[in-house]
Amino acid sequence: MDYNKPRYTPMSRRRRIYEGKAKVLYEGPEPGTLIQHFKDDATAAGTKKHEVIEGKGVLNNRISEYLFQRLNDIGVPTHFIRRLNMREQLIREVEIIPLEVCVRNVAAGSLATRLGIEEGTQLPRSIIEFYYKNDQLNDPMVSEEHITAFGWATPQEIDDIMALAIRVNDFMCGLFLGVGIRLVDFKMECGRLWENDLMRIVVADEISPDSCRLWDIKSSEKLDKDRFRRDMGGLLEAYTDVAKRLGIMSENERPQGAGPVLVKG
Ligand code: TMP
Repeated sequence: MDYNKPRYTPMSRRRRIYEGKAKVLYEGPEPGTLIQHFKDDATAAGTKKHEVIEGKGVLNNRISEYLFQRLNDIGVPTHFIRRLNMREQLIREVEIIPLEVCVRNVAAGSLATRLGIEEGTQLPRSIIEFYYKNDQLNDPMVSEEHITAFGWATPQEIDDIMALAIRVNDFMCGLFLGVGIRLVDFKMECGRLWENDLMRIVVADEISPDSCRLWDIKSSEKLDKDRFRRDMGGLLEAYTDVAKRLGIMSENERPQGAGPVLVKG
């Protein structure tokens, strides 16, 4: 199948498959593909806090495209095929595993609160946590025991997910460090991708400042969704800063990235 050949369907005629808090999934141009559309909606604390931040979807589409493409380049399998336009990307249809896989390098957010560790404390090693994706239950934390007992994933799949999470974390820590950003933690989702009779686990959904904690190395300034969660303002400026540092957007808004911009000592 030639995924690089554009085949457009007018927005109004597309079948909507799923609408989440920040994204919509539409039927794709070929079987086994979907179109992932990034909205401007920001939510926190379930959906109790909700705002529309104009331009957030465009930035997340670009940043997520960049990170997924880099992961594809180093052989980490993802659902990403290519970006279609300012707000949309073509992805492979996968069966989403109902888990939020969270990798933490530095204590922050719910881990800092739950265990009484000061925010900003480097963790002795990277920690992987699982949360059950369920809005009504506010995504409760679950253990491998829950995951296998309730059949959300098999022990082999959990091993594959953890191996993927470690690769993604190692790669992204280095990538962000190179542009003067500390990857404090992030959330990723995985899906089952079938190719003929073979199934493999791939990284799905998005990776963006909505789903990562990103702190400036020197000032510890927050460059992520905590700016919204904690009513700090300046979310769009922070996301734009991340995009520019990654070399995705210049002052004149170049459409294709020229690669990360190294920050010296
Ligand atoms: P937490 O400290 O609130 O548990 O968040 C850990 C990381 O996961 C942080 O980078 C934000 C991200 N995250 C999401 O992307 N979606 C969510 O629903 C939650 C709770 C966290």
